Amino acid sequence: MAEILAVGEALERALTLLQAGDVVAIPTETVYGLAGDATNGIGVARIFEAKGRPRFNPLIAHVADMAMAERIAVFDPLSKKLAQAFWPGPLTLVLPQRPGNGIHPLVTAGLDTIALRMPRGFGGDLIAKLGRPLAAPSANSSGRISATTAQAVAADLGARIKLVVDGGATPVGLESTIVKAEGAGVRLLRPGGIAAAEIEAAISMELLRGGGAGVEAPGMLASHYAPGAAMRLNAGTVGKDEALLGFGGQRAEGWRNAAAFLNLSVSGDLREAASNLFAYMQELDRSGARTIAVETIPFDGLGEAINDRLSRAAAPRDNAQPTT
Ligand code: TXA
Ligand code: MG
Repeated sequence: MAEILAVGEALERALTLLQAGDVVAIPTETVYGLAGDATNGIGVARIFEAKGRPRFNPLIAHVADMAMAERIAVFDPLSKKLAQAFWPGPLTLVLPQRPGNGIHPLVTAGLDTIALRMPRGFGGDLIAKLGRPLAAPSANSSGRISATTAQAVAADLGARIKLVVDGGATPVGLESTIVKAEGAGVRLLRPGGIAAAEIEAAISMELLRGGGAGVEAPGMLASHYAPGAAMRLNAGTVGKDEALLGFGGQRAEGWRNAAAFLNLSVSGDLREAASNLFAYMQELDRSGARTIAVETIPFDGLGEAINDRLSRAAAPRDNAQPTT
């Protein structure tokens, strides 16, 4: 079973494991990540093994500073502006790789682009100390809900990894927003912890969305973030054999008879809802209800990413291939 160490006492142990080509679960501001040295093929392969992740699905490389980022990838002016505005923070930029950057090809699944992010807090310190980028997908078994606490990581991956660094509940609670500069514009590949409107304000232009062949993040297949229970979205009523995931002050009809009930944000705050989403889905899942009914969540701000994760969790699972 994995050892759980608090951030204040974990740095040396984490470094030793990473230098030996092993993996470590670490807190970031978005969700917990399962990190390995991005330049070490064995470390990267262990990430895929521990998660049961298909190897065609590339990983995000995490950097400590802009100099490290520019050794790995080539920045266009718009991407640079976004990095300056939001790093360290929950934004991932997809960029052309710089040849000879030392990143193991397994990280990028052979693509000539790479997804880069500069995390806040422990992750940043660890990368700076290691002096090398860390590849880190969310620290969950492929296709399951991302972990927002060290305990959730240990419950899912604890038998397959040696160390979970405990930094408490992750403040944002949703994975990073992923964008890619394309021609004169910037395309949204995955909504996430920074609202699209904030990015649009920083570059004074609207994000490109949808369309475009093969431009989506490869991991964005329909069924994903799946709890054991079925999910039913935009529920106006709830049956007594269902659990209810609520939002705001207006309750679905029959809510008092629900098998279990949690409210993502009583005051209707989408940031609070985002930070509670995955933990509450897991808690309602543990209630044993066969279905989790979810009240309507608005699409503005972080609501876009919340609705994205909910609809993936609700997608039919037969024939679908969950991937990250
Ligand atoms: O907040 C986050 O982003 C967390 C923390 C740990 O940093 N990480 C995370 O990683 O969510 P993961 O592996 O669960 O999701 C990464 C997504 C996948 O959908 C993957 O397909 C996409 O990034 N991706 C990676 N490299 C890409 C590339 N070169 N082009 C397009 N999408 C890429
Ligand atoms: Mg993931």
